[in-house]
Amino acid sequence: MTLSGKRILLVIGGGIAAYKSLDLIRRLRERGAAVRCVMTAAAQEFVTPLSVGALTADHVFTDLFDRQDEHDVGHIRLSREADLIVVAPATADLMAKLAGGLANDLASTVLLATDKKVLMAPAMNPRMWTHAATRRNRGTLEKDGIAFVGPNSGEMAESGEAGAGRMAEPLEIVAAIETVFDSRPKPLAGKKIIVTSGPTHEPIDPVRYIANRSSGKQGHAIAAALARLGADVRLVSGPVTIPDPLGVKTVHVERAEEMRDAVEQLLPADAAIFVAAVADWRTADSAGQKIKKVAGKGPPALKMVENPDILATVGHHRKRPWLVIGFAAETQNVLKNAEAKLKKKGADLIVANDVGTAGTSSGGVMGGDRNRVKVVSRAGVEEWPELSKDEVADRLAALVASRLATTAV
Ligand SMILES: Cc1cc2nc3c(=O)[nH]c(=O)nc-3n(C[C@H](O)[C@H](O)[C@H](O)COP(=O)(O)O)c2cc1C
Repeated sequence: MTLSGKRILLVIGGGIAAYKSLDLIRRLRERGAAVRCVMTAAAQEFVTPLSVGALTADHVFTDLFDRQDEHDVGHIRLSREADLIVVAPATADLMAKLAGGLANDLASTVLLATDKKVLMAPAMNPRMWTHAATRRNRGTLEKDGIAFVGPNSGEMAESGEAGAGRMAEPLEIVAAIETVFDSRPKPLAGKKIIVTSGPTHEPIDPVRYIANRSSGKQGHAIAAALARLGADVRLVSGPVTIPDPLGVKTVHVERAEEMRDAVEQLLPADAAIFVAAVADWRTADSAGQKIKKVAGKGPPALKMVENPDILATVGHHRKRPWLVIGFAAETQNVLKNAEAKLKKKGADLIVANDVGTAGTSSGGVMGGDRNRVKVVSRAGVEEWPELSKDEVADRLAALVASRLATTAV
């Protein structure tokens, strides 16, 4: 119940993404928030006040000149009784109105009359989003202290249209709302941190590849934990089936070489944490066509070559981050290998985990939800108890915050 007791006024604008606002209401109420809605006239063309009211269990406000609601100047009351106003979807029109100070319907009047924080989740066609007028309006609104979540890039509802303009997903909006209310200290604010996560896939031919069992759970949890402490996190993720962590900018790659290039492009950074299980080898040349099984010829011999060592590349880089942390997944001699890795790779810390099947009480570390790690530095070895991957992530994020704090003079 992360939003317990919070009162959220949700302004629904007239865009196709209005249907997602129904889910947003549910997600907010699940977390203990009380949600009230204002709908523009255009919004009611997309979803009905009946559905919205059924989900909020409250009256839905649609009309500035409503005699019942306005006998005590209801629009001012509405704007003040909330703890936060969220506009989702925020149409180009609503953004323009607020940037220009217009107040000619209930939604725009409430937005102008409020003394509360406003969070906008824009949604519109990519051309509308990139239009100079919308860019100008966004700049004005940001200067006025309005917060934004999204938009994301991808396919639009209109067929054949793609680009930036999709409304952030309901859970992303929830995360942005939780961040607004989160008053915990943000020791990593202003710090840029690169995290790699997941496996890499090294192609053999267009349909086959060499992979490993990494799920990305630990790396993604670390990225999310660092973001909760205020860091600007850039996650470079190999192919995984889990969603991108909220509040983190994620780049998706497949192969080790792509991961190395993506990481180098993100430098400089204050810290880098290499959690991904990068394949040590790739095939010398992946076949352009599917390798056919030929009777009597036997299996093909795969010639392997070494992949780039991303940790060592960054550990010895001219733009080396101040803090470099590597993960060492081993099945034997865990500690000895971690100590050797520390020296060879130019890392400050190695987080060693035994990924053998007896790794944790719940079974294997790779793909599982728990982890038991040893943190190896030049100062010695710290052994952490068996923890969930989220707990390991929180502890490591706190460690990163304390290490980076020593750089601030
Ligand atoms: C089918 C359809 C879809 C639309 N989708 C969007 C949209 O996603 N974003 C947007 O800014 N405007 C969209 N519009 C245009 C808005 O509905 C129009 O600008 C309207 O005046 C917005 O009113 P409001 O800002 O008061 O809600 C759409 C219009 C139509 C007919």
